[in-house]
Amino acid sequence: MRGFRFNAQILASLFLCIFFGCRARVNAPAPPAPESTLRVAAEAHRITIGTAAHSRYLREPEYEAVLASEFSQLEPENELKFAVVHPAPDRYDFSGGDVLLSFAESHDMLVRGHTLVWHRQVPQWLSSAHHTPAQLAMVLRDHIKRVMLHYAGKLYAWDVVNEAFNDDGSMRTTVWYDQPGIGYAGGGTRYVEQAFRWARASDPKAHLFYNDYDTEQINAKSDAIYAMAKDFKARGVPLDGIGFQFHLDLRFDNPNKLASTAENMRRFAALGLEINITELDVRLSDGSPASLHSQASLYHAVTKLCVAQPACKVLQAWGFTDKHSWIPGFFPNMDWGLPFDKDYKKKPAYYGMLGALQ
Ligand code: XIL
Repeated sequence: MRGFRFNAQILASLFLCIFFGCRARVNAPAPPAPESTLRVAAEAHRITIGTAAHSRYLREPEYEAVLASEFSQLEPENELKFAVVHPAPDRYDFSGGDVLLSFAESHDMLVRGHTLVWHRQVPQWLSSAHHTPAQLAMVLRDHIKRVMLHYAGKLYAWDVVNEAFNDDGSMRTTVWYDQPGIGYAGGGTRYVEQAFRWARASDPKAHLFYNDYDTEQINAKSDAIYAMAKDFKARGVPLDGIGFQFHLDLRFDNPNKLASTAENMRRFAALGLEINITELDVRLSDGSPASLHSQASLYHAVTKLCVAQPACKVLQAWGFTDKHSWIPGFFPNMDWGLPFDKDYKKKPAYYGMLGALQ
């Protein structure tokens, strides 16, 4: 009898199995797999997943928790910029950068430095000083040296020069280039080269990047940067990689436009350069489900681009929560640019990235 009942049970199971699928009926349903994180999913592709961060937000437990669990890298959003880190001629203030660095160290995260030579966030003492080019050159050389030495062996990469080109590919008029400049006014990329040489001498191990915006596609600006990069590589100027900022806007950008971006990345990679996506965000004019959905497709497509390009080592968002985004302060009526909402909830954009990494 016992044997018979057993066989009847097996037959019933077999029947259910054939008609409804074996796992679902015979075994108890498997518990849902624990959700992965961006950093775990990115590791499989050897991609470092980063975000801009600010030390003042570390007081918020949710900010800390998401930063440490989702990201394998942070980059100070403002705290290593000239005006913040070097607020007076003889005074450096590393406090914000140091707080971020120690947070990163205790959560096994890398830190990328931003930025040594930029025309914005330059302190008043410098912009109003009326230096000669020779004096300004010494100011910049000492600044690069002091900041890089403070973080040598701790920050593995730096945006040495940020946003030196105009949209038409000409050199931007700045304090460093020609107002008065460090001695190479009218000399094209010569001043950029000088900055990279000082950076290499200051911390020979750091990866040195040129970083800019609206350079994702093949256009006049990315052509000019490509020409500079090619020239630098040919002459041994110490340039290791290019940072593409990726501040996208759903009104103008969509996944179809990324074909030119893939091609653009390929040409820089072919020069032997590392590629970093450094400041990804996708600003929206409304937070409707439809907009959030389109935003997710763009996040997904950008992540796929990085996954598909072996030279793309870093995928970094410019902040992670809409609660602390630079977008509303800079683009009137725009917001909702980041992968987490103002309550630290994951948005479709987050799942767009995660899905592309899985
Ligand atoms: C922005 C910061 O996010 C703001 O908080 C700050 O007020 C201005 O700078 N390109 C860059 C970044 O390289 O340094 C900028 O960051 C955004 C554009």
